[in-house]
Amino acid sequence: MKLIDQLDLAGKRVFIRVDFNVPLERGVVTDRTRIEAALPTIRHACASGARVVLASHLGRPKGKAVPELSLAPVAEVLSSLLASTVALAPDCVGPEVAAMVDDLGPGSALLLENLRFHAEEEKNDPAFARQLAELADVYINDAFGTAHRAHASTVGIAALVSERGAGFLLERECEYLGRVMTHPKRPLVAILGGAKVSDKISVIRSLLERVDTLLIGGAMAYTFLRVAGENTGNSIVEEEQLDLAASLRAEAERRGINLLLPNDHVVAASPQDNRGALTVNKIPNGKMGLDIGPQTIDRFSKAIAEAGTVIWNGPLGMFEVPPFNAGTMAVANALADSDAISIVGGGDSVAAVVRSGRAAEITHISTGGGASLEFLEGKTLPGLAALE
Ligand code: 3PG
Repeated sequence: MKLIDQLDLAGKRVFIRVDFNVPLERGVVTDRTRIEAALPTIRHACASGARVVLASHLGRPKGKAVPELSLAPVAEVLSSLLASTVALAPDCVGPEVAAMVDDLGPGSALLLENLRFHAEEEKNDPAFARQLAELADVYINDAFGTAHRAHASTVGIAALVSERGAGFLLERECEYLGRVMTHPKRPLVAILGGAKVSDKISVIRSLLERVDTLLIGGAMAYTFLRVAGENTGNSIVEEEQLDLAASLRAEAERRGINLLLPNDHVVAASPQDNRGALTVNKIPNGKMGLDIGPQTIDRFSKAIAEAGTVIWNGPLGMFEVPPFNAGTMAVANALADSDAISIVGGGDSVAAVVRSGRAAEITHISTGGGASLEFLEGKTLPGLAALE
């Protein structure tokens, strides 16, 4: 796979697939992380004299032009970050767009309108991919967050443009996540949280082949605790995953992996009952576990402090509702305090790290949710394979 800085970009139309699928509230971008993460590639292309064509999806408009999912707010943020106007094309294909691309001067950038306004994008339609390819002399993929999708702008186009390569963000993501998979600094500690075991089965299996220590928190921990014979009260337990959780525990034991589950909990009658929150070692009937307790925070923090590499995906409790956010915030701080190579992926864990104010102390914050999980599952991501 070539990297953007190995390609000659001067005067060329450089089509960069970025992932500007950012959260919006009433037309305002509420988290700029993904836009900022693409800046090194965009700046490099502009500084190399490229005529830069940026393309992204936003949301899931299902093949229709949905005004609320226009990339106009993103063009505004991008223009202010680059301190130079980035115009928004009225569409992503067609003669008007082609004319705007032709008019681009060296060092300037144009943002195409939402790719998913065309149903052909997600179908990886060959004619649509060709229309996109007609706007490109060089194709760069810097959309790590979308690398697990085989769409026209991530896969179809790549085969049609002979000069192609990865942007700096894509490279960085592959480097850090790849390190977890192949040559981590040990001990390798994985922290998995979130609501469901079923969402993380493949990633747990893959990580069991690699980690020294696995910390499990969040609602999915209760399925594992039930298997261990503990009372889980009204906590969320996936009854249909109990056998699987038992087999994952047995697998961890067989491999000699240090599997840490919560041994104390913050419980309440419901997530709304935050005034009734109690810390307990045994979950009483009628209560549900909503966060890891202080003893678990200490055990998890110790494992993080001793790690060479830590990978974290998924919140450890109902972190949207205080006080059930304490465990997730403590883990974010423990990661920031540690000397380990720290890698965080997944929307909620990334949000927690940002909220802790210590994001700069994390080695790598992945911009990929689904993409980073699939990478950690050991799957080949189509967007990466298409660049080979
Ligand atoms: C993401 O936010 O995970 C990516 O942008 C992919 O979006 P999608 O899940 O709608 O394909």
